[in-house]
Amino acid sequence: MGEILNLMSAVCFILSLKNLSSAATSIRGNLYGIIGMAFAVCVAFVGNNFSLSFIAIVIGGAIGIYVARKISMTQLPEMVACFHSLVGLSAVLIDCATFLSADSKGIDTITALEIALGTFIGAITFTGSLIAFLKLRGSYRGHAIPLYFNMGIAVVNALLIIAFCYSANSVSLSLLILFSLLLGLTLIVPVGGADMPVIVSMLNSYSGWAASGIGFTLSNDLLIITGAIVGASGAILSYIMCKGMNRSLIDVIFASGNNISASAQTKNKNRSFKSGAAEDAAFLLKNASSVIIVPGYGMATSQAQHALKEMGDLLKKNGTSVKYAIHPVAGRMPGHMNVLLAEANVPYEDVFELDDINSSFAACDVAYVVGANDVTNPAAKDDPSSSIYGMPILEVNKARTVIFLKRSMGTGYAGVENELFFAPNTMMLLGDAKKMTEEVVRAL
Ligand code: TAP
Repeated sequence: MGEILNLMSAVCFILSLKNLSSAATSIRGNLYGIIGMAFAVCVAFVGNNFSLSFIAIVIGGAIGIYVARKISMTQLPEMVACFHSLVGLSAVLIDCATFLSADSKGIDTITALEIALGTFIGAITFTGSLIAFLKLRGSYRGHAIPLYFNMGIAVVNALLIIAFCYSANSVSLSLLILFSLLLGLTLIVPVGGADMPVIVSMLNSYSGWAASGIGFTLSNDLLIITGAIVGASGAILSYIMCKGMNRSLIDVIFASGNNISASAQTKNKNRSFKSGAAEDAAFLLKNASSVIIVPGYGMATSQAQHALKEMGDLLKKNGTSVKYAIHPVAGRMPGHMNVLLAEANVPYEDVFELDDINSSFAACDVAYVVGANDVTNPAAKDDPSSSIYGMPILEVNKARTVIFLKRSMGTGYAGVENELFFAPNTMMLLGDAKKMTEEVVRAL
């Protein structure tokens, strides 16, 4: 019975992933995921201590409900990072428990290798995810760490894995845990702000492999399969994101962080720029025949998507062509902008990805940039010393006029100045994205 439920659960997870890959089928994808998880929970009850499992589910479920109610949409990536750290920690604890409960005959080499690899990946996932959590919250920026230091710790870890496979003693396991925890810290500390999305996805992949490792340790087929699905899909997503940002995955994973402090410096104090009011923006928009709206993280924090949709509809009624341009890393998680625009019922056919819209900016009258910054920053193309150098951008600077709606002249997530604020064809519209867009709607 358990085997059949395992198989059905695995099939549901695969169907879930397949359906989640398109907005039109994503609700079905979620349903498959829920059904697969329900089968998995049933399997957990079969042949296990019912009351202990039940207590664990009640405690875990209560914490899950509390956290889900408290967390806002913009805090989701840091919550995901926090949950990854728990997967890593449980992998380490389960491997330690397996080691401690081994019978007097000791542990064979294959089991020792499973324990060592599970502990290594789990400990890296644990501390790495905690640092990612702090970075995504904005509580910690990071520090430079020379690449050779991380290489050195990685070599020590490799030697400790070999030592444990041969000796299976508690000293080598304790040292392996310690050095793997350290490697998790030192790998993520130097990662630059713009690379954090890739790192979150990479940690997602690590947590999958850690879960798969737990599956081997516990001889649980379902954990092996689902862990491998999460591990492989996280790695593929990281690769796709790197391609989208024109970065090499190896460069991101083995970052040295030399540009972290440089990018945080501000040089543009006291420079002059053009600023306008909602009425000025409305005037420009009303007289435009084509408008491209570029949403970013600020739209998400202020929840301006409904006001934006209203503005877009008014402009369309006026005969203006209105498109929405989405950068693959706009906001704080993959698909962040797509979800918010869909929530406001912006039609899918009006929403364009970077590659499909970039050539349209040159022919567009107004680019209305709302709470986006890094994803439009020309430093990514022009400044090799910048931490976002190499990332493709939405080329809003090519539009006849750029309206930049944000609250201040401050930097975005990567801490890099944006020269576009000072360009002759830019008008800064300073204020909260939602309130200001509502004022523009009134003025229109
Ligand atoms: P950012 O570069 O972070 O810029 C957002 C801008 O919104 C800020 O400059 C901020 O300026 C403004 N803002 C904040 N609250 C606002 C409000 N209530 N009203 C109006 N404006 C507001 O965002 P982006 O352009 O979307 O780029 C995303 C960045 O996040 C990239 O660097 C990316 O690598 C990183 N990141 C992305 C992800 C994923 S997967 N998408 C995950 C982690 C990190 P003011 O403070 O002046 O208002």
